[in-house]
Amino acid sequence: MRENLLADMKPHLLYHKLPQDTSAVTCQTSKSPQFYKWALLITGIVVLLLLILLTQLLLLPLLLVPVDYHNNALLFQTESCSDSCRAVLVESIPQGLSFNSSMPSPAIADVWTNMIVEAKHSLDIASFYWTMTNEDTNTSEPTAQTGEQILQELIKLPKTGVSVRIAVDSSQSFKSQKDLQALKDGGVLVREVNMLKLTKGVLHTKFWVVDKTHLFIGSANMDWRSLTQVKELGLAMYNCSCLAQDLEKIFEMYWFLGQPDAVIPHHWPSNYSTAYNQDTPLSILVNGTSSRIYLSSAPPALCPDGRTQDLQAILSIIEDAEEFVYIAVMNFLPVMEFSHHKRYWSDIDSQLRRIAYERKIKVRLLISCWPHSEPVMFTFLRSLAAINDHKSKLDIEVVNICPQPIY
Ligand SMILES: *[C@@H]1O[C@H](CO)[C@@H](O)[C@H](O)[C@H]1NC(C)=O
Ligand SMILES: *[C@@H]1O[C@H](CO)[C@@H](O)[C@H](O)[C@H]1NC(C)=O
Ligand SMILES: *[C@@H]1O[C@H](CO)[C@@H](O)[C@H](O)[C@H]1NC(C)=O
Ligand SMILES: *[C@@H]1O[C@H](CO)[C@@H](O)[C@H](O)[C@H]1NC(C)=O
Ligand SMILES: *[C@@H]1O[C@H](CO)[C@@H](O)[C@H](O)[C@H]1NC(C)=O
Repeated sequence: MRENLLADMKPHLLYHKLPQDTSAVTCQTSKSPQFYKWALLITGIVVLLLLILLTQLLLLPLLLVPVDYHNNALLFQTESCSDSCRAVLVESIPQGLSFNSSMPSPAIADVWTNMIVEAKHSLDIASFYWTMTNEDTNTSEPTAQTGEQILQELIKLPKTGVSVRIAVDSSQSFKSQKDLQALKDGGVLVREVNMLKLTKGVLHTKFWVVDKTHLFIGSANMDWRSLTQVKELGLAMYNCSCLAQDLEKIFEMYWFLGQPDAVIPHHWPSNYSTAYNQDTPLSILVNGTSSRIYLSSAPPALCPDGRTQDLQAILSIIEDAEEFVYIAVMNFLPVMEFSHHKRYWSDIDSQLRRIAYERKIKVRLLISCWPHSEPVMFTFLRSLAAINDHKSKLDIEVVNICPQPIY
């Protein structure tokens, strides 16, 4: 369902500024599998997280005042590390979409290929599912070739002496197993994590760690469509071992949970804990600028000692805004979309309204619109977009990106 939509969406792509006073804005609904609904929500969260990471990375250095570690030891207990990291923002732009970016970024496919070339000892990949070939998706699209090539390179990697491990959500077992089988045949170690059983959720993380030195975090699934058909965003960091080793601890957690009959420990052993978090971020040079950075995780049961939770990180980065908060996600609605009973859940929504009102922060939301988007999402978004009044300096705007006209 989603697949067809993605293939079809390019020619009709429209931008809609959400009106503040009409009830005409809805999408047609159709029941999508629970699985995809989860995927949508968590994709949203992942993009937000990326935003946090990027904001920490790109904005904080500008605000960073020279720190006197003796006097401000308690205020800035920053863990330092001598890494001088290179950070590159990477994107997938759907092929055929005319998108004249003033700041073109390298393609995610090129960065993955590059990471495979760089790998000398190890490559660990955390993933949701694998459909890297036309065969997997029952398609015959020429643009699948990029994904097919990368899969072949990954299959060949163990033969060159690189240890390759993949953690994948066990919902993959409902999809084609061909990619994973071919990877296993090539010597790749694969563990399926039954997140549904462990947390009632999915393993929706997507990241790569190369030689415990380079890393990639982004929205792209291990899906050929994420390389050529879907708008995706990611961050690659090279020569960044302190952060890569911290990300590796998150991978080790998934790897542990991927054992048969694994259960989440009541208390994670101390080697999973981290010193880098909201209170004591890692201090590194990023492209020559001193920066503070930490990785957060969710749900709380997957946060060993010291790991900041995603929600706390998201609320705190919004709180840190001095001028604006820009959000680009698939879904944004203040409810628990996947809970059995209807539940209102407005932590992030409230935080946006609060900073817009109390601190006059400009808020912009760029939200996807799908035939299967919850109709109530547009109702809630209209209520956010209604908070816009020049006289009171309230400045919230919402834009929907829709595959077809929604009026
Ligand atoms: C960091 O520097 C590299 C070149 O060394 C450049 O390609 C990249 O875009 C820079 N990253 C950022 C976030 O400015
Ligand atoms: C992008 O630039 C090309 C060449 O300048 C132009 O033909 C095209 O209309 C532009 N597309 C958009 C969406 O602005
Ligand atoms: C792929 O297409 C074939 C033939 O059209 C069909 O029999 C099969 O069920 C499809 N498989 C999937 C996974 O959709
Ligand atoms: C890492 O740093 C070394 C030394 O500065 C440099 O030669 C190498 O190209 C860097 N690696 C990457 C992937 O940027
Ligand atoms: C912690 O130690 C255990 C036992 O030695 C090991 O299996 C696990 O991989 C370690 N975890 C991390 C994050 O290094």
